[in-house]
Amino acid sequence: MDKPKVVLGVSGGIAAYKACELLRRLTESGHDVRVVPTASALHFVGAATWSALSGHPVSTEVWDDVHEVPHVRTGQEADLVVVAPATADTLARAAHGLADDLLTNTLLTARCPVVFAPAMHTEMWEHPATRENVSVLRRRGAVVIEPATGRLTGADTGKGRLPEPGEIFEVCRRVLERGAPVPDLAGRHVVISAGGTREPLDPVRFLGNRSSGKQGYAFARTAVARGARVTLVSANAALPDPAGADVVHVGTALQMREAVVKAAADADVVVMAAAVADFRPAAYAEGKIKKKDGRDPEPVALVRNPDILAEISADRAVPGQLIVGFAAETDDVLANGREKLRRKGCDLLVVNEVGESKTFGSEQNEAVVLAADGAETPVPHGPKESLADTVWDLVVPRLP
Ligand code: CTP
Repeated sequence: MDKPKVVLGVSGGIAAYKACELLRRLTESGHDVRVVPTASALHFVGAATWSALSGHPVSTEVWDDVHEVPHVRTGQEADLVVVAPATADTLARAAHGLADDLLTNTLLTARCPVVFAPAMHTEMWEHPATRENVSVLRRRGAVVIEPATGRLTGADTGKGRLPEPGEIFEVCRRVLERGAPVPDLAGRHVVISAGGTREPLDPVRFLGNRSSGKQGYAFARTAVARGARVTLVSANAALPDPAGADVVHVGTALQMREAVVKAAADADVVVMAAAVADFRPAAYAEGKIKKKDGRDPEPVALVRNPDILAEISADRAVPGQLIVGFAAETDDVLANGREKLRRKGCDLLVVNEVGESKTFGSEQNEAVVLAADGAETPVPHGPKESLADTVWDLVVPRLP
């Protein structure tokens, strides 16, 4: 079988050096990669490096090798185009359909999925011009992953860093695997909660649960690959931030509620995969609670936490917003699931059976997805990503 053909567009930013690592990963995993740098990218990494690492000649202009019509062929033949880093200028030229160099010509002739991994200073990323360009590209079906937050070129830090090459590679792998020409969550904002909340008793102790966050993170990664803008509200998950998602870290149920309600204000879909504590200690001890010799411990009084899923389902921020809940059950799994779907008022409920050795912390999951419209979809034992993709397959046709 022919190797999948990938075009790696590189635009002129300091993060261009990281694209060398992405290129290596792509070639080493069996992809035939053509690098198309912009002229300014060559100020950062020279054509010799791209050519040696890709095993192909490299050009930036449409005037090289004109007899082979590279400005049309390179895009037409590609199975995936990934632009990393994508500067504000490249995003603007792509959004406006300019065709002033080989990369922009390639973007116009490509009919395959296109992934942009932007990298720029925070001010440029946040500028309304860039925001609009990104929205236009996403609406047209491009996957524009969110930049990471951290150290930028100078001493400054903020949002705008190119995600790590390994993470961009994972997004590319997933997009290629799906192969759909138009990612079906393009232009959609999805909010996903993940992990387990911790309800503090004192500065060192908390009531918590065994949720690892892996299922919620799998939702985030798959949604990015399907073109969505993703906000991940994560509670105490010991996992690296997934590339391309906006991650809001929270600790308690009350903090999770605030973050989810805020993010849901313009969301098309909300997935509540987090294990939210139903109760929290009524009082928080400012100092560490000490054991008092010879005396029984004080009972811990608990109060109810708000039910975030029920609240956002009853009071939808956006008409037609689709809400997905989770139910972790130990007995009477389906009957409890149906009852919970009705009680919570969400559109889909992913019901899974949990126990000491099941689901928590594992890479695999098995579930039944119940829909408010009566549909029931069993999902066989498999990777958490497959379960997430099945849920997205059920979400997409139900969106307005
Ligand atoms: N959930 C929530 N807010 C809470 C508790 C739960 O949003 N305070 C959400 C979870 O994220 C999950 C769903 O509700 O999507 C199911 O939670 P679960 O704890 O199983 O439901 P309960 O209503 O607590 O039912 P029970 O305790 O009877 O199992």
